[in-house]
Amino acid sequence: MIDTLASRKNIANFRKISKLKSYIMKRVFTAVILISDLLISSTGLSQTQNSSRSRESFNQGWKFIKYFNASTDAAITDKEPVGLQLPSANDSNWRTLDLPHDWAIEGPFSDTLENDTGLLPWKGIGWYRKHFTLNETDKGKRIYIDFDGAMAYSEVWINGKYVGGWPYGYTSFRLDLTSYVNFGKDNLIAVRLDTKSWDSRWYPGAGIYRNVWLVKTSQLHISCNGVFCTTPEIKKDKAFLSVEAKVESHIEQPVDIAVKATVYKLDEKGKASADPVAESTTPIATLSALADHIFRLDIPVNNPVLWNLDDPELYKVAVTILQGTAVTDLYETNFGFRTLNFTPRDGFLLNGKRVQVQGVCNHHDLGALGTAINTRALERQLELLKEMGCNAIRTSHNPPAPELLDLCDRMGFLVEDEAFDAWKTPKKNNDYNKLFYAWHEEDLRAMVRRDRNHPSVFMWSIGNEVNDQDKSYISQSLRTIVKSEDNTRPVTSGCDWEESGTDGFEKTLDVFGINYHVYKNEYEKFFALKDNENIGFHSSESASTVSSRGEYFWPVFQGDLEKNQPGKGIFQITSYDVAYPGWASTVDQQWTMLDKYPAAYGEFVWTGFDYIGEPTPYNDDLTGMKPGTEEYKKTKEMLDKQGVKEVPSRSSYFGILDLAGFKKDRFYLYQSRWRPDLPMAHILPHWNWPERKGLVTPVHVYTSGDEAELFLNGKSLGKKSKHQYEYRLIWDNVIYQPGELKIVAYKNGVKWAEDKMVTTGKPSQLSCSADRSSVHPDGYDLVFITIKIEDVNKLMVPRSSNLVNFSIEGPGKIVAVDNGDATSHDPFNASYRKAFNGMCLVIVKAEKGANGSFKVKAASKGLKGSEVAVRIDQ
Ligand code: GAL
Repeated sequence: MIDTLASRKNIANFRKISKLKSYIMKRVFTAVILISDLLISSTGLSQTQNSSRSRESFNQGWKFIKYFNASTDAAITDKEPVGLQLPSANDSNWRTLDLPHDWAIEGPFSDTLENDTGLLPWKGIGWYRKHFTLNETDKGKRIYIDFDGAMAYSEVWINGKYVGGWPYGYTSFRLDLTSYVNFGKDNLIAVRLDTKSWDSRWYPGAGIYRNVWLVKTSQLHISCNGVFCTTPEIKKDKAFLSVEAKVESHIEQPVDIAVKATVYKLDEKGKASADPVAESTTPIATLSALADHIFRLDIPVNNPVLWNLDDPELYKVAVTILQGTAVTDLYETNFGFRTLNFTPRDGFLLNGKRVQVQGVCNHHDLGALGTAINTRALERQLELLKEMGCNAIRTSHNPPAPELLDLCDRMGFLVEDEAFDAWKTPKKNNDYNKLFYAWHEEDLRAMVRRDRNHPSVFMWSIGNEVNDQDKSYISQSLRTIVKSEDNTRPVTSGCDWEESGTDGFEKTLDVFGINYHVYKNEYEKFFALKDNENIGFHSSESASTVSSRGEYFWPVFQGDLEKNQPGKGIFQITSYDVAYPGWASTVDQQWTMLDKYPAAYGEFVWTGFDYIGEPTPYNDDLTGMKPGTEEYKKTKEMLDKQGVKEVPSRSSYFGILDLAGFKKDRFYLYQSRWRPDLPMAHILPHWNWPERKGLVTPVHVYTSGDEAELFLNGKSLGKKSKHQYEYRLIWDNVIYQPGELKIVAYKNGVKWAEDKMVTTGKPSQLSCSADRSSVHPDGYDLVFITIKIEDVNKLMVPRSSNLVNFSIEGPGKIVAVDNGDATSHDPFNASYRKAFNGMCLVIVKAEKGANGSFKVKAASKGLKGSEVAVRIDQ
């Protein structure tokens, strides 16, 4: 009851905000532009004393408190005192922290919480407060705060006065603080977040989990995300850059201005060329008082260097507003020259060349770091994906952190930027359906405006498996909104209804996205329909194969997990890469479809990395279900039948890499297809099975070669080659004997690659290896250190689970630990971790502002320890 009332109150509040926003827009932004040949007059200069724009991180020094009740959320709002937004409220006993912050990742995991959202305490009410001062010299400037994302239903007060907020936790938004702040005196910002009113199918995190910025501008400035770059013409020796710059004036008289755009080439490190490569200035125009206007410039750029996946060449445009000789604003944004061509039947072309989409879907959490955004953690994920041959990311199922797109621009990934997991009809009671009417337009416009200059973004997705695939009027209207903000990219949606590709829903999209459906001929039906001949097609979600790194069970059973599946007793899933939930498939079945229908642009695999929550097939426990309901009864019956009492799983099994970022076997299966020119071979399972002596133990091999010969202890077990629609080589009748299992792969008859699995001895030592040897002491940069349990011969002992303790010598800090085990309830925020199948991870950083270096030491009872040194680079 309280729940319902509270969420109604919130919706009502946000409606008020919406109304207020549109009123302000109407009042302020009615512009009259007079093109003038006269010299710029000084009109309005007095109100634009400050020309410089600044954008500072606003992450440091916040106070935080949360109100949370694990067993029932009824009491949360009762416990929350009133007036926490007021300067007089006492926050002295609140925790001090820096953003980005995810209040739930510290746990503890609890069986009373939902598996689907990670057994973590993310539901509740969170308050953040921060004191800050603005200089007297800032008087006369506009002061804005930009939130890259706050989960969820944010409401913001300055000095006790309500400023605004944004309900959808994934949208970036700006609030105008100008009329609320004091100059030369203390200011207090207070932010209230409410995740109690939000429901999610995965772990959404909680808190101000992305970066926050304080932006200061003059009274005459470029609007938020107000520069839109397109490249309408690209030829070898010349391209045209079109810049639309939205200028807003908060000045009470008309002003005469010109807008200038200067283009620079960026080098690999993002440094701009010393000289501009092109520039252009508009004629002088008069902008009415308190008005805005979009200025357009078409700028020829000679010999454009194209952005592509191997050489992601970037440019920057610096847009200035000129008032006479004064520069009242300088706004910069990156862009790239590249062409996108979504042919109906000949695939997707980047710069005129076919590129097969080899993509992965990812949720936004970063494993042990939770949802608190971290650029290095994202970069590490992308590095690993690149090594696998992945070239595209689908931001399932919400707008990402802006840093992800910057990295994709810089590292050469395509991005399918997605807005929603639900429209009008819920998947969960309090999901986006509660916001859809009031907010879908604002959220969609915010996403497109923020992200449309990124060359990496190649498609906009308006939804994922929405329960409204029978409502073409909604997809049509969402598409229209997107197109009104960006007409250069196609609109797609991930569809899972059998008829969506043929019943007309697909015609409301530029590119149809099919999720799974490799069995029922949906591919065939889509392509057979004459009416669909102008619509592009891709697998927006594929495979959903599940596995636990390093776990193998027999018999090797291909298929639907809901049927009998060995491994269930310990809540793990075989890593033979043959298991999937009912709606999904093996990797191999998916590839067969893509090979049969080469018109499809490619696929986005579910998922690149394991994520917190949705531990399919071990999510059907009783937590979160109300006793007495039909759902409870059915689930209880099913679990009783299976003899399952309690389900510990709290993270997914879908990842090609596990939650710690360690490669599962599947990594090599994808690599074998996605990097056909890389000589590689990979054997599974590992070869430590003393209890299987004399038993049939199938061996699977992933290779970019076309045939291979398997040897056990030097004896050939025969050569096998790949036939049409075969993507792995299988020796089904290998009888286990300890020793050495070796594969020699061939391509076109020539030796191509080798791999071996050797039976190891007992755990004897630890080995630490860091992903980088140095770190910046900026408080954010990270080093990921992998610890392996090894035998005396330095071979990783596959089934070892020794407890490892970490310590630091010098100015370093442990940030989190993990091992990729989806069933572990040990905290991520700790200085110890048991190995899971031979490996664990410690994530460290340098103390802020420190110099020199520090050592990370790993110790484990009875084993020789290991350490690694990390240099601190300024
Ligand atoms: C899809 C859905 C994803 C995820 C996946 C698991 O149907 O779009 O969000 O739930 O199933 O297989």
